[in-house]
Amino acid sequence: MPAPAFGAIAAQVLGVGIATLDIINEVAAYPGEDAEVRALAQRRVRGGNVANSLVVLAQLGHRCRWVGTLGDDPAADLILADLACYGVATGDAVRIAGGATPTSYIALSRATASRTIVHFRDLPELDAAAFAGCALEGVGWVHFEGRHPPETRRMIDRVRAECPTVPVSLELEKVRPGIEALLDGPQVLLASRAFAAASGFTDPAAFLADLAARTSASLCVVAWGEQGASCLVRGGAVQQVPAHRPARVVDTLGAGDVFNAGVIDALARGLAPAEAVAAAVRLAGEQCGRIGLTLEVE
Ligand code: ADP
Ligand code: FRU
Repeated sequence: MPAPAFGAIAAQVLGVGIATLDIINEVAAYPGEDAEVRALAQRRVRGGNVANSLVVLAQLGHRCRWVGTLGDDPAADLILADLACYGVATGDAVRIAGGATPTSYIALSRATASRTIVHFRDLPELDAAAFAGCALEGVGWVHFEGRHPPETRRMIDRVRAECPTVPVSLELEKVRPGIEALLDGPQVLLASRAFAAASGFTDPAAFLADLAARTSASLCVVAWGEQGASCLVRGGAVQQVPAHRPARVVDTLGAGDVFNAGVIDALARGLAPAEAVAAAVRLAGEQCGRIGLTLEVE
């Protein structure tokens, strides 16, 4: 079976999902329970899976637009200002009166570069009614997070009905009730190792074979941390790409978001799926060698 073709990129990438305030404490080593440690440095930055992926895509030269919910607090202002700095359009963002922007409290270990995230959110998710107000003209790719399944289902249906030729990708980061309902429609599924593990799999190839049997997507991808990533084109064999190791791994926060952006970028530029995953592994690996998500674009 021929590999799916996705090339479409003068057009805009629309990302639907969360934006967060990340309060990142760099610590010498991850503390034990009930410990008290001093942070070596602290940063307050924009985070969130889709927002992070869009920032990477914007740096790779794509026109990007974010839609999701925010509170009406200073954290929301910080996020909007940061996205504006990268040229990510935010005109469709929904600010919830009295709402608090989701916040992640993150310990980034200098010893291992691991990131431990405590995420707090108490904000309504974007719903299909709000998404119905977002124009789809000029959009060449839509990327969703696999959250809030009933509403996301309706949003995917709208894109597929109004723009049947526009590729849709879906991130599967966590197993959530009803998430199965999202597997029909997107052409590209981007799963995490945590999603595979929560689905009962310890082997990426077995996970992908199972996922491919449950979806209409033509490409299923799973990122596997320091072991790289694997992909399966419908009707083909699983392909594994070993991780790309930078000189020194210093920051793995958002590696999955960078990886997802790398896959979308490469597919949109017309690369074949396995090459796209290899490009994304390289991009994410390089980024693990730098603090934050500002790329060194050549
Ligand atoms: P998440 O941020 O969702 O936990 P992963 O840890 O799976 O995502 O990382 C996503 C991608 O980033 C991996 O597929 C891999 O290509 C790259 N990556 C992650 N950790 C490392 C690492 N320690 N060294 C090199 N590459 C890494
Ligand atoms: C990293 C990240 C953080 C955010 C958290 C949300 O992948 O997007 O920026 O706080 O995940 O789950």
